[in-house]
Amino acid sequence: MRMEEVYEQLQLWVEENRSHTMLGATAQYIPALAEQEPNQLGICIMDYDGDTYLAGETDVNFTLQSVSKIISFVALCHFKGMDFVLDKVDVEPTGEAFNSIIPFEIHRPGKPFNPLINAGAITVASMLPGDTPDEKFERFILFVEGMIGRRLELNEEVYQSEWKTAHRNRALAYYLKESNLLELDVEEALEIYIRLCSISIGLKDLSKIGLVIAHDGYDPVEKQQIFSSDVARIAKVLMVTCGMYNSSGKFAAHVGLPAKSGVSGGILASVPPKWHSEEKAFRKGCGIAVFGPAIDAHGNSAAGTMLLRQLSAEWDLSIF
Ligand code: DON
Repeated sequence: MRMEEVYEQLQLWVEENRSHTMLGATAQYIPALAEQEPNQLGICIMDYDGDTYLAGETDVNFTLQSVSKIISFVALCHFKGMDFVLDKVDVEPTGEAFNSIIPFEIHRPGKPFNPLINAGAITVASMLPGDTPDEKFERFILFVEGMIGRRLELNEEVYQSEWKTAHRNRALAYYLKESNLLELDVEEALEIYIRLCSISIGLKDLSKIGLVIAHDGYDPVEKQQIFSSDVARIAKVLMVTCGMYNSSGKFAAHVGLPAKSGVSGGILASVPPKWHSEEKAFRKGCGIAVFGPAIDAHGNSAAGTMLLRQLSAEWDLSIF
């Protein structure tokens, strides 16, 4: 397909799907996110050559929120090895809300079900290399910089807003501490976890991360291996099985891509290469980033999910 054609289709589909923003609302439990303009919808697709296709609201910055969870999992596996990480967190879906205390309580003193629910992500964040939240944050920022070529910054307003209202996460962290699953004290573990959630990112940078995951940890633009293919494989498994929370099954059925959502309305998706049906777009794989801050009851961008569903169907992107 010609670039112009892809670009025109993308513009059209974003406008067609924008009405789905009405099916969701901005995250109300984090005051700074509640204030976001709900009817925004934007997308960036980065192809194998690093060319980008943008449509809708594209000049947006938003906080990573739970999208940070898949990146911190990858970073921790990269720095400390997969055996170390899988000893601390499992790779099973829960069927409960992302911030639920129930699965952890049932399995006490077992490990969190997976690194993409809050309990698992707090555990992972606390174990990043470094002795303090500051050092761990810096290592994470450098790891991401290695993929996107620039330094991301913290959104201080979102951080403060989350920090003040993190009652449930604080409760989860106490459970984790009781089971010796935190490397830091409760307050420090929460600090690093919430800092990772509050990192500000744009669509282009996020699509680059999706591209690297799609290509098994290899950056096809800079031609360098960022992390091992073993780590990328488990990351993709987690994205498919747990990345869209309790609608991961439906997302796999209707979109069929490894993806990770966040309550600020971001979605990171990875499209691995697919060599047949060559007339379709993105056969060499791509990374996709979507932003639509009106989220549904599961915590996923309402319009973003529908937009991905349309793209995947029209361009036959599903991995299944
Ligand atoms: O800890 C929280 O609740 C938020 N910082 C992140 C939650 C989130 O993004 C879940 N996503 N769907």
